[in-house]
Amino acid sequence: GRVAVVMGGSSAEREVSLDSGRNVLAALRSRGVDAQAIDGIPALLDALRAGHFARVFNILHGGGGENGELQGALASLKVPYTGSGVLGSALSMDKVRTKHVWRSLGLPTPRFVALPRGAGAAAVHAAAREVGYPLIVKPACEGSSVGVTRVFEEAQLDAAVALAARYPGDLLMETLIEGEEITVGILGRQVLPSIHIVPAGAFYDYNAKYVAEDTRYLCPGLAGEAEAAVRALALAAFDALDCSGWGRVDLMRDRAGQAWLLEVNTAPGMTSHSLVPKAAAAAGIDYATLCWRVLETSFP
Ligand code: DAL
Ligand code: MG
Repeated sequence: GRVAVVMGGSSAEREVSLDSGRNVLAALRSRGVDAQAIDGIPALLDALRAGHFARVFNILHGGGGENGELQGALASLKVPYTGSGVLGSALSMDKVRTKHVWRSLGLPTPRFVALPRGAGAAAVHAAAREVGYPLIVKPACEGSSVGVTRVFEEAQLDAAVALAARYPGDLLMETLIEGEEITVGILGRQVLPSIHIVPAGAFYDYNAKYVAEDTRYLCPGLAGEAEAAVRALALAAFDALDCSGWGRVDLMRDRAGQAWLLEVNTAPGMTSHSLVPKAAAAAGIDYATLCWRVLETSFP
C-alpha cells in the first residue's frame, strides 16, 4: 500500500524535518515505493481516516511527532509506523525522564538537576551550585540544540535559563562534559559505527549541525575496544527507554575516556548534514537503502 512520509509539523524543528522528509521521500520513490509527503499530524490523521495510506514513515522531529502523541494515534488506528512506540518516544523526548531511567539502571549520564518552568532565581542558582560549573542548560523536550546554552560562570546563568524557558516543558541543568562528542545510530538491531563529531567552533550547535560546511565527522569515531564499548552502551541506553526500529544515541566522552549518555533521538535527522546517513554509509548502507530498511522496521 501507499506510504505517508509525515514531515514538517509545528515544532521548533519544522524546517529540519521538512529537509529530512524531502530527502526520505525522494529516496523511497527511487526504490519504487509509492510514497507521498504529508505536512503535520492533523493532515496525516485526516488522510488515514480517508483510507489513503497503509503505512507511515514518520520523520517529524520534536513535538507531537516524536513524543508519543502521534504514535498513540497511529497505534489506535492500527496503522504501522516507523520508529519507537508510545513509551520509547515519550521517554526519549523528555531528557529529564530519560536520565532518571538511565540513572536507575546504573547507565552513565552526567549529573543534573531538573528545574520546573518559572523556577525563581534562588532555585536556579542553587541548582547550578549543585551541578557545578561548567554546565549546560537545555529545554527538556527540544531537539537540534534549540534553546541550549553552555554556562561557564554564574554571570551567564540567568540568560541561559531565560532562553531555555522560551520552549515548552521543564529545564534541564546538566554538568558539561568536555571531550569528544559521539553519536551512535541504531537500525533495527544493527548498531552502526559511531561518529566522532568535531565542530569547527567549540560547540555542536544548530549552526554546526545544519548550516556549517566545516564540521568534521570521523567514522568510526573510536577504535578497538572503545568503539565496541560505546556501541554496546548506546544499545543498552536505547533498550532501557523501550526504543525500537531505529534511532540515534548521543553521548560525550570525557578526557579520561569515560562515556556519558546525553539523549536518544527517535526520529533522527535525515538531512544532507545528518548523522545516521553518514554512519550508515560507513557501514556500506547507502541513503536509499537506509530509508528502505527504516521502512521495514515499521510495526505492528
Ligand atoms: N533532532 C534532530 C533532528 C536530530 O537528532 O537529528
Ligand atoms: Mg535530540
